[in-house]
Amino acid sequence: MSSDHADAIHYAHQNPAQFIQHLKEFIQIPSVSTDPNHTGDMDRATRWLSEQLHRIGIVNSRIIRTGGHPVVYAEQLSAGPAAPVVLIYGHYDVQPAEPLNLWQSDPFNPEQRGDNLYGRGSSDMKGQIMATLDAVESVSRNGGLPVNLKFLFEGEEEIGSPSLEQVITENKHLLKTDLALNPDAGMIAPDTPSIVYALRGLAYFELRVFGPTQDLHSGMYGGVIHNPAQALSELIAGMHNADGSIALPGYYDKVKLLSAEEKEALSRLPIDNDFYIHQTGVPALWGEKSYTPVERTGARPTLEINGMESGFTGSGSKTIIPAWAMAKISMRLVPEQDPQDVERQLRQYLIERAPSTIRWELKSMAGGPASLTPRDTPGVVALSRAIESVWGKPPLFKREGGSIPVVVQMKKILGIDSVLTGFGLPDDNVHGPNEKLHLPTWSRGIDALIHFFYNIAETYPFPHVSERSNL
Ligand code: BES
Ligand code: MN
Repeated sequence: MSSDHADAIHYAHQNPAQFIQHLKEFIQIPSVSTDPNHTGDMDRATRWLSEQLHRIGIVNSRIIRTGGHPVVYAEQLSAGPAAPVVLIYGHYDVQPAEPLNLWQSDPFNPEQRGDNLYGRGSSDMKGQIMATLDAVESVSRNGGLPVNLKFLFEGEEEIGSPSLEQVITENKHLLKTDLALNPDAGMIAPDTPSIVYALRGLAYFELRVFGPTQDLHSGMYGGVIHNPAQALSELIAGMHNADGSIALPGYYDKVKLLSAEEKEALSRLPIDNDFYIHQTGVPALWGEKSYTPVERTGARPTLEINGMESGFTGSGSKTIIPAWAMAKISMRLVPEQDPQDVERQLRQYLIERAPSTIRWELKSMAGGPASLTPRDTPGVVALSRAIESVWGKPPLFKREGGSIPVVVQMKKILGIDSVLTGFGLPDDNVHGPNEKLHLPTWSRGIDALIHFFYNIAETYPFPHVSERSNL
């Protein structure tokens, strides 16, 4: 380790309180992308990020306007042409905090309790953005950056990154880089470091079923009208087979089986039935029995009902047949599955199965295909070494069930692979109430990112690998 490198680690160890303070400020901006009431907060978050970049010496930054929420772009190319260019990605938006009554402390006024910092976005992913900026600060204040950096922070990841593809396309030359560092994934446990090499894709829909022109007296009309809530439930019930597989026509046509090698590698992860039962509090697990839980969440596609609405849900009782019913339906996709194909398959299912007693409408929302980062790319190797330096053991490799649309967009448009990392944990309650960040793991993550910047600089220029395995 060079003395600059050691000084950078030392600097990070000297400044945890300051790092946490900055993260708290970031969490205090309620940048909820899906809620139009927070448009002003989205702008505030971009301004705040630009100031932070400026504070750590990245003076070249600008805000790119989009049809949706703005993007922050910045660069620091001081390491010169003999050093790699790393594109750091992050999203400053968060999911809504509701239901607020389930939070033990204000989601936008972060509170430290024990080893954890509680607040919306603490783990997904304001904490991860700040870990990356803290690492950049530590390196650049101690001898300068050994890598060139470009930053791309969007505000629409949690709604499927609808504007980003255009931003990346229009700024293709600006974003020319050797690889992307995407700290939006997580780890298995504080003592089980891991690297994510695959993400599932997403296709999201709103299905509405319409019956009578308005709510009806259920006594006068019950028996002659097909209740839309019932019709919708019947359609939804038919979307899965008894074995847990999905019944849409052609749904598995492009789904690949795992290789024996990958199956074996995944079976070594310390994640079993009890892990999921413990994390979630369910009485028993569900799903395709012929696949392990790790395979079902990482390498098998799913169909989920995210929410349903129909008729009377207030307190007391009201005797009606509702006029309509609605369900939010999403599918997690695996490599090769195309979001547009699955939309056609869902429409075909509805055409075949919807009864003539109702009318239906299907609205498609943003999403994207799955991604896979080869495990032998220079970025993954550099991160793996970095993690081993901090944790004293090599990381395990994991397929993650969540989705990050930008990974595919960057591969397709810029031709670069994303190194997926992040120092959140499975019990961080991301997207749920009481989201938190485990600070000791986060601090180790900052160290790992410092090592990563040095490691990736050392291996440049990257050896050209003409044919890489998919693993
Ligand atoms: N950080 C998550 C994705 C993730 C979750 C990666 C778990 C690794 C482990 C990301 O912010 C997210 O939640 N994405 C959405 C994307 C969607 C709205 C297109 C998701 O997966 O639901
Ligand atoms: Mn995220």
